[in-house]
Amino acid sequence: MTGDLFAGLAREPSVEPIVDGALLLRAFVDEQEQTRLLQGIALVLDASPQRHMQTPGGFRMSVAMSNCGQLGWVTDRRGYRYQPMDPLSGQHWPPMPEAFLALATRAADAAGFANFVPDACLVNRYEPGARMSLHQDRNETDMTQPIVSVSLGLPATFLFGGLARSDKPRRMRLESGDVVVWGGPARLAFHGIDPLAEGEHALTGACRYNLTFRRAG
Ligand code: SIN
Ligand code: FE2
Repeated sequence: MTGDLFAGLAREPSVEPIVDGALLLRAFVDEQEQTRLLQGIALVLDASPQRHMQTPGGFRMSVAMSNCGQLGWVTDRRGYRYQPMDPLSGQHWPPMPEAFLALATRAADAAGFANFVPDACLVNRYEPGARMSLHQDRNETDMTQPIVSVSLGLPATFLFGGLARSDKPRRMRLESGDVVVWGGPARLAFHGIDPLAEGEHALTGACRYNLTFRRAG
């Protein structure tokens, strides 16, 4: 009976190539590990709450953000950058939970990027309507290191384009437990997230979390 009740909930892991250097690892994170990651997020956000940052142009980002690790990504009127201190708390960003590090390294390995040790993890929260327009991750120093991006909670449509903003992006549905890894020839690919649809997720309620791991410094 229990088997019937839960049948169909767990998805089978699979690997989907996106372009050379970019892979979608579907259902890479099982539910137990997703729960552990969400516990880690709660700890991080206790120390450094999420906030809506301003773009250099003065727009408020619809995605709420925080960071953990030695460096955190911030944006304000002065520009985009990484810094060791949280401008809101005045303290260092909280340390990266062990479960975060282990997952990021395991996912990078699975995608063919050995020895990935992230020093920065952006913690994004999308509520319905929040989006991330097409951009490149280009504030990091070592472009030989990949980006590892983990989805938790409500599904989202991920856009993955080419090296020029005008390249037509592919669209992929990302679900809770999916991981996207990009590096090498795809490291500077434009990517983004369509406005999040309304919904309820058993683990996160009415939102999506995204953890984006980088080697920033
Ligand atoms: C990002 O590009 O920083 C976020 C991507 C995502 O939310 O999946
Ligand atoms: Fe990004």
